[in-house]
Amino acid sequence: MSGSQFRSMFDNDKANATATLLQPLLTDITDLSLLLKHAHWNVRGALFQPLHEQLDEIVETARDASDEIAERMVTLGVPADGLVQSIAGSTRLNPLHKRFLPTQEVIEEISNRIHRVIEFLREAIDKTGDLDPVTQDMLIGICGPLEKHLWMLQSQQL
Ligand SMILES: [Fe+2]
Repeated sequence: MSGSQFRSMFDNDKANATATLLQPLLTDITDLSLLLKHAHWNVRGALFQPLHEQLDEIVETARDASDEIAERMVTLGVPADGLVQSIAGSTRLNPLHKRFLPTQEVIEEISNRIHRVIEFLREAIDKTGDLDPVTQDMLIGICGPLEKHLWMLQSQQL
């Protein structure tokens, strides 16, 4: 082995299977961070200030999560696809309207999308138990804060 060769500690098949589960999550969570910014900018209504700020807190969580997922993929020896064209073509989240967004609509629409991402995360958590427990642990660490954000967001609905 040459000195410059990358030495992997992973079983190739398991690493590839794990990365295959991670790429769609990277795509969805990157899209979620963009949708959150779109809502952060366009939200209007009585709850503007708290919602405007809260959305940015969730953006931070989503950006940290996408960074963690991408870097886990690369650690496993698989390149991470973060191209905007790929994200636009593969995201499983629906877009938001291109207009000003009333606060109640933002709460409902963003909650739905966070809920979907949590469902995808939980599916991947189930599957990574056998494949790679370290990845599973990372996904659990991502899921908890998102579930907390969902609770805080939904608690603003009367
Ligand atoms: Fe801002």
